[in-house]
Formats: sequence, structure tokens, C-alpha cells
Amino acid sequence: MKKLFAGNWKMYKIYSEAVEAVKKLMSLTSPLPKDREVLILPPYPYLKSISDLISKKDGYFLGAQNFYPEEEGAYTGEVSPKMLLDVGCSYSIVGHSERRKYFNESDEFINKKVKFGLQKGLKIILCIGEDLTERKKGEVFKVLERQISKGLNEVKDSKIEEKLCIAYEPVWAIGTGEVATPIQIEEAHKIIRELLSDLFGEKGTKIRILYGGSVNPENIKDILPVPNVNGVLVGGASLKPENFSKIILS
Ligand code: 13P
Repeated sequence: MKKLFAGNWKMYKIYSEAVEAVKKLMSLTSPLPKDREVLILPPYPYLKSISDLISKKDGYFLGAQNFYPEEEGAYTGEVSPKMLLDVGCSYSIVGHSERRKYFNESDEFINKKVKFGLQKGLKIILCIGEDLTERKKGEVFKVLERQISKGLNEVKDSKIEEKLCIAYEPVWAIGTGEVATPIQIEEAHKIIRELLSDLFGEKGTKIRILYGGSVNPENIKDILPVPNVNGVLVGGASLKPENFSKIILS
């Protein structure tokens, strides 16, 4: 299983900065070690240009941060999987905690996106994770179980192990500089692995589980060796090629 290093740029960078950052990242990391893959998740307006920069390079992939689960139609402001695939995306994030919080995305709506995106040919990174109150109340298992069972309800695909990734992103560790400890990460990833195995059997053991939340060039060495960590979803530190490249090559 190759480790996936995904950079979620969120709503940062203007066009020229985005193009420069990708060129720099490629020069710092190419050719990639054979056991690693890089996924860049920029804002929509930069997708096509970044696709042109990376499409011929082995191990580099492009993805979106979100989409709307319809083929096409009168949905002002929205973007469909068909459009994303057409400009070179192979992945999309679904259910990021910022979308759950600021855009009121429910587990049911997230499930609709997972099913629709997979059906249209996108690979999906489903984000899950508890907030601080839930952790303090001892509800980590309950939250992960709910987000997985609802988010993946009736999700079927003969190649699910290649098409689905789960990102465990504890909300309290996102953008706070407070990274989860290796023990906390190991516990959560174990729970997720068991839930995936219950749902998908043998294939569930091969679905990549990423950790996300304040990953940086210093703490990556403690995170990557944790059992069931098959990659990372990086926010802030992915914006600077110098930092992201250190994470990728760690
Ligand atoms: P930070 O790495 O900035 O904490 O963000 C994590 C994240 O939300 C990635 O999707």
C-alpha cells in the first residue's frame, strides 16, 4: 500500500502563487520515492493549470476539496464530479469538518456525495473526527462509528480499496498546532480499521486511512510509523513547498 501525502490548500493562494508552489514542490520532490503518492487539493480555479503541470509525472495526483452530488443543472455556484474529472481531478475530499461546521453538511448529505462521486469515477477521501467536547466526554468511538456508518451507508464498489480513503482529522487538532499524540492516533485508526473491515471484509483492510491535524515537518516522523497510518492530509504545512516536501520525503 503506497502512502498518500495529500495537501489541502483550503481557501488560500492566488493563481500565480498556486502555480509557483506546485512547480517548486515538484522540483523538490520529483522523482518521488516509489512507496509514496502526492495529492494536491487546490481551490477550483487552479485545477486545470495544476493538472497540466503534474499530469505526466508519476505519483502526483490532483483533487478537489468538495463537489455537488448532481450530474449538472441549475445549482448556482456548484461544481459537479463530471467537471472535476474533465479538468484532471482523480480525487475529492468529502465531509471535511469545515464543511460540516460552516455549511451544515449532514452525515446523510455527505453519504449522498460519497455514493455519487464514486459512481461517477472520483476517488473519495471521507473526512471524519471528533471535536474537543466529544473527546472530553469519551465519545470518540461513538462519533467515528456514526460518521463511518452513516457516511458509508450503502456504499458499494468492486474496487473500494482503491477508490476510498478515510481521513481521521480530530477537529481540535485542525489548524491549532495541537497534534494528536501517536497513541491517540493509533487508537482512532484502529477503531476506523475495524469499522472498515466490518463493512467491506478483506477489502476494508486495504483502504488507506490518513491522519490530518497540524501535521508538520517535525512531527511527521512520529506520525507515519503509527500502525494503520497510511498517509497524511496536511493543511497549513502544505501551503509552503519547502515544508510539504519535507513531509513527503520524511
Ligand atoms: P492543518 O494541517 O492546518 O491543521 O489542517 C488539517 C486539515 O484540515 C487538512 O484537511
